[in-house]
Amino acid sequence: MRPRVFVTQRIPQSELDRLATQTEMWVWENELPPPREVLLQSVQELDGLLSLLTDRIDGELLDRAPRLKVVANYAVGFDNIDLEACTRRGVMATNTPGVLTETVADLTFALLLALARRIPEAVDYVRQGRWRTWGPLLLTGPDVHHATLGLVGLGRIGSAVAERARGFKMRVLYHDVYRREDLEKDLGVEYRPLEAVLAEADFVSVHTPLTPETKGVIGHSALRRMKKTALLINTARGPVVDTEALVEALQKGEIAGAALDVTDPEPLPADHPLVAMANVIVVPHIASASIQTRTKMAELAVNNLLAGLKGDRPPHLLNPDVLDSQALRARA
Ligand code: DGY
Repeated sequence: MRPRVFVTQRIPQSELDRLATQTEMWVWENELPPPREVLLQSVQELDGLLSLLTDRIDGELLDRAPRLKVVANYAVGFDNIDLEACTRRGVMATNTPGVLTETVADLTFALLLALARRIPEAVDYVRQGRWRTWGPLLLTGPDVHHATLGLVGLGRIGSAVAERARGFKMRVLYHDVYRREDLEKDLGVEYRPLEAVLAEADFVSVHTPLTPETKGVIGHSALRRMKKTALLINTARGPVVDTEALVEALQKGEIAGAALDVTDPEPLPADHPLVAMANVIVVPHIASASIQTRTKMAELAVNNLLAGLKGDRPPHLLNPDVLDSQALRARA
């Protein structure tokens, strides 16, 4: 009998075809994620799950999945998965690191430039037929080149953003829980405590995973430390920024604008105050959405899933402790 797998959203077809040759596969065809009840019901029969960041994988779900060997998340972030719960039950969990780094860094820079140079406002201006002449003060914004960029997090994506900033002759400051002296010279970045990064930067870009420690880290006091002229960019996870605090900071002019690929809540309703603000850009979590990257993510997720189903160590195993567990052996 072939292993049974559930793919909770359509992914690039070439990888679905590959999966179909080796598994009995069910793909969720709806644009919206499977409702919780569908997930809870379907896992009962599953050997493998190819999940998205919109699927919550927790103890409740795993308790209903006696055969489940592997959860392959189609994302580098895995805050939707309770890793400890997986390990305790002998379920391997995997992600898709590396392949989306450059693509996410590209979008981060696209947002930074678009926000600074007011591209969405300028496009609307032309569309609305308001362009009547060249104006010295028309749609001016701050320079990006030679400005100071503050990175909150210097992992793979933060580093790739720093590389791009070099081309714009920016000064780059960073804060991370671990000081990365190894990278400082290579990337030309300077370490600062978080407060100093916030206070000195013209652009603050968030690149931390979502953990209990980073949730809401860009809240009232962080936003108040930023320059009134500063622009905030978030392509990490929505809840790292406290949405209410951000709305207030923008309304009071404590910072000058924000560009968000990720939001809290996500999706952000169209009538949310942030959506209406001229100095805010919101895009629908598309940082990794290049054709090539989404295909590579699918390759990695399917490699992880197939390895786990065979009982091999998946290439991007998030909970290696599971390999020593009795629970894993019980599932084998
Ligand atoms: C991730 O992979 O974590 C992104 O948020 C989606 O590509």
